[in-house]
Amino acid sequence: KTSLRERAASQGLIYGAAASYQPLRANLEFAQRFAQECAILVPTNELKWQILRPTPDQFDFRRSDWMARFAQKHNMLFRGHTLVWYQALPQWFKETVNRKNAERILTDHITTVVKHYAGNMHSWDVVNEAIAPNGSKDGLRQTPWLRFLGADYIEMAFRTAAAADPQALLVYNDNNLEYDNPKTEAKRSRVLKLLERLKSKRVPIHALGIQSHIGASSQGFNAKKLRSFLKEVASLGLKIFITEMDVLEKNLLELENRDAIIAGVYQDYLSLVLDEPAVNTVITWGLSDRYTWAANFAPRQDGAPVRPLPLDTQLERKLAWNAIALAF
Ligand code: XIL
Repeated sequence: KTSLRERAASQGLIYGAAASYQPLRANLEFAQRFAQECAILVPTNELKWQILRPTPDQFDFRRSDWMARFAQKHNMLFRGHTLVWYQALPQWFKETVNRKNAERILTDHITTVVKHYAGNMHSWDVVNEAIAPNGSKDGLRQTPWLRFLGADYIEMAFRTAAAADPQALLVYNDNNLEYDNPKTEAKRSRVLKLLERLKSKRVPIHALGIQSHIGASSQGFNAKKLRSFLKEVASLGLKIFITEMDVLEKNLLELENRDAIIAGVYQDYLSLVLDEPAVNTVITWGLSDRYTWAANFAPRQDGAPVRPLPLDTQLERKLAWNAIALAF
């Protein structure tokens, strides 16, 4: 058996995962396994405003710089998440940012952060989760950025990022695009509209990121609809990245066969999306069940630890690992 990074590379794909500073720094075995399996590293939280921006006029790059060096040392690509989001904003944001200064604060942030890593960043999630979950004016989510700057904040962010690093791939990233229900379908079409609008205005954007936090109890995917969505995105000249995959088992009951069910979801979903040649990058939101946001975000009702990722808590390969390897 080779590693996921080698399996992916043999198919012309990139595989990697998100990780946090603390375990990479403190758990040597985890760090080694990470470098072995992954060709790309995404800091889970370390490039969000909350951590990068302790005060309105400070940038604290210590943790993300350590991670960038770690990636470089182990011959991994480094990927940035995320420049514009409505969550993970620092305390001072509310008291400080207003209609008058929002443009300067946003463009300063993007310019400083993107320049800091210019030439060393594979890609940036420039804007994360900007589409409303349930439809609204413009189809855009109500966020401070929309309120202060109007719908143009999105293209402003992309143009500012491109000027600061002409090499990094610039990504629009969003969630809840995977399923087969009316809400998801409406969201896919709103995302498509946004991408079309950006492309028609010659905004520098290179890829769509599909988060892919998948519920294990979901009733499966609609292959036809999902494929045609991917095809339409690709026809705009965009690449497609699977950016945050994990399998959430909230309502999954049987402890005995859940690993097989979770592996089945990985295999079904990845083989489906990888049919589309524009999908060339697969990232899981974590590598080991030892370090997963799902423990807090989507715990099991019976209190048993969740198992959403390719490696278990002992860093051993699970059925999910096999499923991903097979899908490549
Ligand atoms: C999550 C992190 O994993 C958590 O540690 C943090 O507490 C909250 O954010 N979509 C995203 C990611 O784009 O930034 C989120 O990450 C998970 C959902």
